[in-house]
Amino acid sequence: MQDDLDRILFHETTILSRLDQLAAEISKEYRGRELTVIAVLTGSLMFMADLLRRIPLPLKLDFLAVASYHGKTETSGEVIFKQVALPDVKDRHILILDDILDSGLTLAAIREKLEALGPRSIRVCVLLSKKKRRQRHVDADYIGFEIEDEFVVGYGLDFMEQYRNLPYIGVLRKDLIAKALG
Ligand code: IMP
Ligand code: MG
Repeated sequence: MQDDLDRILFHETTILSRLDQLAAEISKEYRGRELTVIAVLTGSLMFMADLLRRIPLPLKLDFLAVASYHGKTETSGEVIFKQVALPDVKDRHILILDDILDSGLTLAAIREKLEALGPRSIRVCVLLSKKKRRQRHVDADYIGFEIEDEFVVGYGLDFMEQYRNLPYIGVLRKDLIAKALG
C-alpha cells in the first residue's frame, strides 16, 4: 500500500503525540461537564479510538453514519444520513469527531441536524483540516493538523474504501486516482 502513496505526511508517532496535546486540551475544557462524543463513521474510527483513550473523563460515545462521496475524490454535495435513529443529544455537551474537514458540507449538515435536537453545546474536533475555500463554513474547535488541498489516505481515511488500515497518513498518488476514476 505504501507504494501507492506520493509521500507520507504524518507518521504514527507524530499523530499520537499530537493526540496527546488535543486530548489534554479537551480534558481541560470538559472537566466536570457531561460529555457526549459523537464520532462520524467510518473515517474517524482510528482517530476516535486513539483520542478517547487519552481523555480520562466520564463520557458517552455515539456514532453517526453519513455518506457524501460515493467513491470519488470530490464531494457530491449531498449529505445522506445512513441512520434511522439519531443519538440522544438533548441537554448534553456534544463533541463531534470527524476525520477531515474538506468542503465543510458534511460537518455543516451534521451540526445543523444535531443543533435541532437541543444540545447544551456543540463543538467540532477534526484530525485534519484542508486549507481551502469551503462550500460551507464550519468552525472546528479542535484541529489535529492543517494540510494542503491534496487527497490523503490512511489512519481511517479511505479512497474507494481502501487504505483505512494504514497506520500513518499520506498523499495518494494522483495517477492512481486518475486511473481509478477514469
Ligand atoms: P466534506 O463534506 O467535503 O468536508 O468532506 C468530509 C468527508 O469527505 C470526510 O469525512 C472524508 O470522509 C471525505 N474526505 C474529504 N477529503 C478527503 C481526503 O483527502 N481523503 C479521504 N477522504 C476525504
Ligand atoms: Mg468520512
